[in-house]
Amino acid sequence: MSLSTRREALDELRRRGEPAQHRSLRESFRTNPERARSLTFDAAGLHIDCSKQLISIEDVASLIRFAHTCDVEQRRDEMFSGGRVNRSEDRGALHVLHRADGAPGLNEVRVFVDALRGGAILGATGAPLRAIVNLGIGGSDLGPRMATRALAAFIDGAIDVRFASSLDPRGLEQALEGIEPAEVLFVAATKSFSTQETGVLAHRAIDWLRRSLGEQADISLHLAAVTSRPDLAARAGIRPDRTFSIDEGIGGRYSLTSAMGLCVMAAVGTAVFDEMLSGFESMDQHFATAPLDANLPVLHGLISVWNRSILGFGAQAVVPFSWDLRLVPEHLAQLVMESNGKSVDEDGTLVDLATSPVLFGAPGTEAQHSFFQLLHQGTDRVPVDLIGVVRGSSGPNDALLANLLAQANALAFGRSLESLIAEGVSPEIAAQRAMPGNRPSTTILIDEVTPASLGALIALYEHSVFVQAMLWNINPFDQFGVELGKDLARDLAPQLVEGAPAPPQQDGSTTDLVAWIRARR
Ligand code: F6P
Repeated sequence: MSLSTRREALDELRRRGEPAQHRSLRESFRTNPERARSLTFDAAGLHIDCSKQLISIEDVASLIRFAHTCDVEQRRDEMFSGGRVNRSEDRGALHVLHRADGAPGLNEVRVFVDALRGGAILGATGAPLRAIVNLGIGGSDLGPRMATRALAAFIDGAIDVRFASSLDPRGLEQALEGIEPAEVLFVAATKSFSTQETGVLAHRAIDWLRRSLGEQADISLHLAAVTSRPDLAARAGIRPDRTFSIDEGIGGRYSLTSAMGLCVMAAVGTAVFDEMLSGFESMDQHFATAPLDANLPVLHGLISVWNRSILGFGAQAVVPFSWDLRLVPEHLAQLVMESNGKSVDEDGTLVDLATSPVLFGAPGTEAQHSFFQLLHQGTDRVPVDLIGVVRGSSGPNDALLANLLAQANALAFGRSLESLIAEGVSPEIAAQRAMPGNRPSTTILIDEVTPASLGALIALYEHSVFVQAMLWNINPFDQFGVELGKDLARDLAPQLVEGAPAPPQQDGSTTDLVAWIRARR
């Protein structure tokens, strides 16, 4: 990457950003009847209309020039070939490579899941295991949970799959409701095998098994692990034939397509899981080969950088108009913010551009009745990705799609003060009812929520995140920012125990809060 050419390309983008702040989308569509077509793209079963973004065709060309100066293609190729793109941790980011070549450990998971679904894996009482509780957090929970919900129409009931992630005991208690102890398999889903939440959950699960099945029962038959630390799993009493490996080079938030997908596979079967993998792979292929100006993840990533770093929009909403896709925003919140919530670049210097937006979202109609007021009339402009499904899993749902199209339209074109006054509304009320418009959105449509379309959709975001990181010159594959809080919690926990010695000197606020809690024990 040449710093001077990058700076020149960036200066050009900043010059372009000025007028774009005041761009009228109504005017943009009026003056260019081809606008919608020129800014709409198809690949891997996804149809993406970016024409309601505050961007011109020339701005896109400038963004692509900027991408070239950031070596996006070379760095993409480096990632695809297993190069050590995660420089701060000196390893590759292998999720894509393993999707193409077969993730280590995944075949063992396939064989195990087939046996489990066939009733051949027995618990301590000799009863076949019929339920899984996935114990994991972050990437070891969000992706598999999201995919299991999204593929609900493909679940055949062979295995009842539940999730527990919280340190709050209520989470596990709820996950266990109605579960028959003799038929459950707990999966400790933890790449590092050292995450506090998962460790606590596993201990609670083991206690529950002992209480339910008796001290003599061989509860190891009810435990499995997905981890890159089989040594630690063995030490925790998990049998080697129930320990499935995940490569160290697969980041938690990118791990759905690895052995970490065990619980998804158990819910839908290996064939459906493999269809999901093929959807991921088709987007991977598209990202690897399509020219930048027709490359969906590249364009999505460039527009995200345009919105965040050039136009200065601090948040990004993702709104799926699909009940099946309702957990996609939660998964993307981790994917986007844990990857790109950084302020120091790969060279250790402060970034020169604002990085990750705050990403939030909710399913479409619920979001309309919650935060859409702010999206339409708030003082901040929040770009929105509206995700629509032509045929829902319960059949066509035109009302849902109509709402999606209406929202995109209202955000872009608003409702003018003049039109309201012309309708006879008083000027004060008209001012409050007027909708400013020019609020950017991208519409992403798929035919149906299938395993393949889900895979392509998630891969789109994974690669968009990568593109954004390359433009910001940050490492999307580490997450040092989550460490300090974990360390402090480890020190604070013993201070809260009843009768513990007085806590050491710490900041006034923490000392007082600890004292307040201890006084109530
Ligand atoms: O939140 C920090 C994090 O390390 C995530 O990156 C990861 O997905 C999650 O914790 C769980 O980690 P593990 O799979 O090692 O338990």
